[in-house]
Amino acid sequence: MVANLGMPVTFTINGQSIDALSGLSLFDHAERLGVDVPTSCRKQGKCKECMVEIVAGMELLSNRAEPEKHLRGNFRLSCQTYASAASGEVRCHTMRRGHMRIERDALGLPIHPRRIELDPTVTRDGDRILIDGVEVDRSTGPIHGIAMDIGTTTVVLRLIDLETGELVADASFENPQRFGGAEVMARISYDTGHPGRLLLRTLAGYLTHATQRFPVDPMTIYEVVVVGNSTMRDLFFRQSVYTIGQNPYRSITEIEMAEGKRTSTSLTLTGRRSLLPIHPRARVYGAPIISGHVGADAAACMLAVDLAHEDRLVAVMDIGTNTELILGNRHRILAASCPAGPAFEGGAIACGMPALDGAIEEVAIRDDGKFRLGVIGNIAPEGICGSGLVDVLSELLRTGRMNEMGRFDDGKSRITLDDESAIFLLESDVNELAQAKGANVAGLHTVRNRYGIEFDDIELFYLAGGFGRHLDIEASKRIGLIPSLPESKIVQAGNIAIEGATIALLSKTKRQELEELVKRVEHCRLETHPQFFDFFVEGCQFKPVESFPCIH
Ligand code: FES
Repeated sequence: MVANLGMPVTFTINGQSIDALSGLSLFDHAERLGVDVPTSCRKQGKCKECMVEIVAGMELLSNRAEPEKHLRGNFRLSCQTYASAASGEVRCHTMRRGHMRIERDALGLPIHPRRIELDPTVTRDGDRILIDGVEVDRSTGPIHGIAMDIGTTTVVLRLIDLETGELVADASFENPQRFGGAEVMARISYDTGHPGRLLLRTLAGYLTHATQRFPVDPMTIYEVVVVGNSTMRDLFFRQSVYTIGQNPYRSITEIEMAEGKRTSTSLTLTGRRSLLPIHPRARVYGAPIISGHVGADAAACMLAVDLAHEDRLVAVMDIGTNTELILGNRHRILAASCPAGPAFEGGAIACGMPALDGAIEEVAIRDDGKFRLGVIGNIAPEGICGSGLVDVLSELLRTGRMNEMGRFDDGKSRITLDDESAIFLLESDVNELAQAKGANVAGLHTVRNRYGIEFDDIELFYLAGGFGRHLDIEASKRIGLIPSLPESKIVQAGNIAIEGATIALLSKTKRQELEELVKRVEHCRLETHPQFFDFFVEGCQFKPVESFPCIH
């Protein structure tokens, strides 16, 4: 332990400040402030759950202790971290819960979990609790299940009463695996290079806390349906993810299926093996993935938009660090993933931040040239989140202060949005956003081209995920993030994947439909398309996404 040498260092934890006391860890100070820090080991350095992200003042802290050697970047274990300087401010936050704008629900979908016919795999016969007809327990108490969406950035859980289909409670939090990197390739590299399944164990600790907070006895939870991209799902099910990071980017389950060793890419575990505090004979079901990086979350989206029965041509786009795209109907379905990176989630942007209180989420340029800013929580701005970035790009373009190539007028390299809070956008930020957009647009063009349609042929365009839900549609069309379709065709649906997971939890018929549906999807590998580079270059420009001459 390196104790602090003097005063006053100030710790600001989740926005609350306290002077650092000698011999007390960052965790101890969080307790004094009443900040809830996850722990299962009582500050022994064993559970790895007390992680915090240091936003400022990393240099004022003690060196990393042995239990922290697995952490990268600005992450520390708060129980192992002490002030080690004479003065200054350390600002940090725990993994965020509650106040982060995490989408729990979806809107505008054709089927709603609460209206489907209840047909769960867990049933009751008197006091016998059965899974697929096999007795697993004797109880007259309630029967619960969990639908879970493990995203790279956020995790969402829904607790459902399996006898009524009612939502009992839900929970959401930032994925604590961020210490292994912001996007899936970094997590794969981390998991491959560090023995001990640290990513899984850390997430399992958070899932355990979330489950224990539910207002029911965890022993009444008999089934969990897990969706997530291929990497997140496979990490949870203790699969090696090495092959997902290597060309041709296949999950071990996909490889085994191609070799005839399994008939589905879905996975199951018992409750006992899952590390979750649920009934030990519960079943944990990982929904099948589609292919490559197009995972079980995209598969769940297909279920939620009822693609198996859809005659109209439908697109689903989940914009994130790894954007997933689905295009099709009940006759033919294509899917692709686009490695967009974290720019539209505020990563790699000088004043970027997630959609938290203090994030600028709306931007307009007034007639006098000044910026009008909408800030989440109506407090002083601290940075810009994804929807704010789309707005500012659109407004700069509209007013001629930025051209289609992303260059600012008058040769400037930065544009200030708010003087007082020193929030600005750099031309280099615009380059990052251009490349993220380029990857997404290349995906759109490739899938459209392989399907042999024009964008106008799409009859319904679902924007999935939290970012998609809060986008300004006109701004997104102006900068060319989404195709220029009429607003009547665009549905900002939010978290579609958790709806699909819920449907699969409530209906074994629908779960079977999902298993069949994924086998019919044609996976579109962007990098193999002869025009991919042209599509990417086109997509890096800030102009509407429209027809582009294609080789058919
Ligand atoms: S409290 Fe368990 S590692 Fe810090």
